[in-house]
Amino acid sequence: MNIERQKHAPVYEALEQFKKRRVVPFDVPGHKRGRGNPELVELLGEKCVSLDVNSMKPLDNLCHPVSVIKEAEELTAEAFGAEHAFLMVGGTTSAVQSMIMANCKPGQEIILPRNVHKSAINALVMCGAVPVYVEPKTEPRIGIALGVEPKDMEKAIKEHPNAVAVLINNPSYYGICSDLKTLTDLVHKHGMKMLVDEAHGTHLYFGENLPVNAMKAGADMSAISMHKSGGSLTQSSLLLTNNGINADYVRQIINLTQTTSASYLLISSLDISRRNLALRGRESFAKVVDMAEYAREEINAIGGYYAYGKELVNKTSVYDYDVTKLSVYTQGMGLTGIEVYDLLRDEYDIQIEFGDIGNILAYISIGDRIRDIERLVNALADIKRLHEREQKPMISGDYIQPEVVVSPQQAFYSDKKSLELRQSVGHICAEFIMCYPPGIPILAPGERITKEIVDYIIYAKEKGCSLQGTEDIEANYLNVLV
Ligand SMILES: Cc1ncc(COP(=O)(O)O)c(C=O)c1O
Repeated sequence: MNIERQKHAPVYEALEQFKKRRVVPFDVPGHKRGRGNPELVELLGEKCVSLDVNSMKPLDNLCHPVSVIKEAEELTAEAFGAEHAFLMVGGTTSAVQSMIMANCKPGQEIILPRNVHKSAINALVMCGAVPVYVEPKTEPRIGIALGVEPKDMEKAIKEHPNAVAVLINNPSYYGICSDLKTLTDLVHKHGMKMLVDEAHGTHLYFGENLPVNAMKAGADMSAISMHKSGGSLTQSSLLLTNNGINADYVRQIINLTQTTSASYLLISSLDISRRNLALRGRESFAKVVDMAEYAREEINAIGGYYAYGKELVNKTSVYDYDVTKLSVYTQGMGLTGIEVYDLLRDEYDIQIEFGDIGNILAYISIGDRIRDIERLVNALADIKRLHEREQKPMISGDYIQPEVVVSPQQAFYSDKKSLELRQSVGHICAEFIMCYPPGIPILAPGERITKEIVDYIIYAKEKGCSLQGTEDIEANYLNVLV
């Protein structure tokens, strides 16, 4: 990486130049640098609204980058060790979907673990590709899905030799990493493309002694949430390509769904964050690791909680662990993760990333301070003192592997009827239902609804998980195939 070059932020620099010229706007956005909407200026500040501009020659165009956005994408590709990088303004959802749609045509098979984010299965509804699920093992003590083992992938590839691509989520929300290099080599040996959902892995490109990143492992494409550990504005993401993938075709795919009015606040935040990571990422992520390790030790010293880390590594289902993650198993205290999540917010004014049935995840990043970590640890100790329960919650596991009966696209667009949850057992689901976060579908279109799955949904609801994806916003009814 050329550090001198990385000191530039071409979009940000072009915006600064543009501001100095005091151009009179007879274009959109209609708030005209905020003058037409004083309350917006009050909320966001003058500088922010004055940079909320539309594409124009000096600022390039995200759909067809030829100048400053093109340069920003080249610098991003260099910083991430990729052949090409796309700046994305529709979140990592759009990056994951573009990655799948660029590689899979209707009816083609894609191999993936079932515990992927909903964006991946949504992409199958849109493009008509057919999923082949490899079932990851579940950690017996903490109930979370583990990584994909090469031997399981090999079996899936042998059974589905015509599959065109494999998608892996790495690291998982909880920090679990698969053996990405071996998996990538295996996938390539069989002529398939390796796609990685690295929503939780931006830091792997800059920190030291962290699990291998997708581009280094030789993957073909990767979706990166810069807005998570990379520090950019919410909704800004990256899509990386490698190994001679046709970036011009990928751009066409992105433009099928991408806005024609991309926000320069998002684009410039990607530009500035890439520069920051390239120049200072190593030190920043070393601090994040120290804070997460410190928090892990302190939380484990409370008792009852299990803040897990590198000890989970077994070189098979947990090939590596991302120690920047602070994932904590809470059921040892008789509390679900969602209960602890709610208590932290309601009683202690602490907002964590998510709580599910068995775990919580506190997101530690370059913006944290040790005194905030102390506050979290103290709150968790207090919760144990006041709320620890004898009786253990009954359900563990973050998802149940369902039986796929028809493809997601076919099921989603079929004739449907709505049934009360309990009545839906035995039917084929025609929509998504998931706890959000983490957004891993409990059921996706085309999957058989079982009693075990309905019990899980009802339990999650009772415990306060936000259930999303169903046409019925209360998630009391499910759409099933007629
Ligand atoms: C694994 C994974 N992939 C993709 C996404 C989608 O990211 P975004 O919210 O930026 O659209 C998420 C969001 O949490 C995620 O966890």
